[in-house]
Amino acid sequence: MLFTSEAIKLLTEEHEKICAETKLLRNLDIPQTERKQAFGRLLPNLTSHIKKEEKIVYSFMKLCDADDLRIWALEGKEEHLLIDQLIKKMLAIDISDEEWSVKAKVLAELIDHHIHEEEAEIFPALLKELNDDSDEQLATNYENQNAAEMIPRPFTTEKPVSQPYR
Ligand SMILES: [Fe+2]
Ligand SMILES: [Fe+2]
Repeated sequence: MLFTSEAIKLLTEEHEKICAETKLLRNLDIPQTERKQAFGRLLPNLTSHIKKEEKIVYSFMKLCDADDLRIWALEGKEEHLLIDQLIKKMLAIDISDEEWSVKAKVLAELIDHHIHEEEAEIFPALLKELNDDSDEQLATNYENQNAAEMIPRPFTTEKPVSQPYR
């Protein structure tokens, strides 16, 4: 029977939610207010996902025997950092600024690319390292982070998202 991973299922479900918002963010033809709302919905989901992924999944990958998984964990963290930095810049400028609009599109492309890489390359390699027990443990650890990891990263405290972006 084909092994299906509960942990990877959790990750891809969160990716779907994130991509529903990046689809709006990257579309310059829709009203700015809709893109602004998409950004407001995206931030808490993305923040939580990135933190849990680093803490639980990337940490697991770093301990794996497969060299490529260890490198991907480091690469993934660097990409998360680029995403963080761009969000920080977006939070520092006015939403009506044309620059915000362009940054939003680039952010969406960056996130979509990162997620595609995780799903196309990293998760299949991760799947090979998992068995029933380790997968169950990984999924449980990931889910247990849910409540604790909803605390925003530093960048989200600079300007409360609930006010300007909703
Ligand atoms: Fe990621
Ligand atoms: Fe991810």
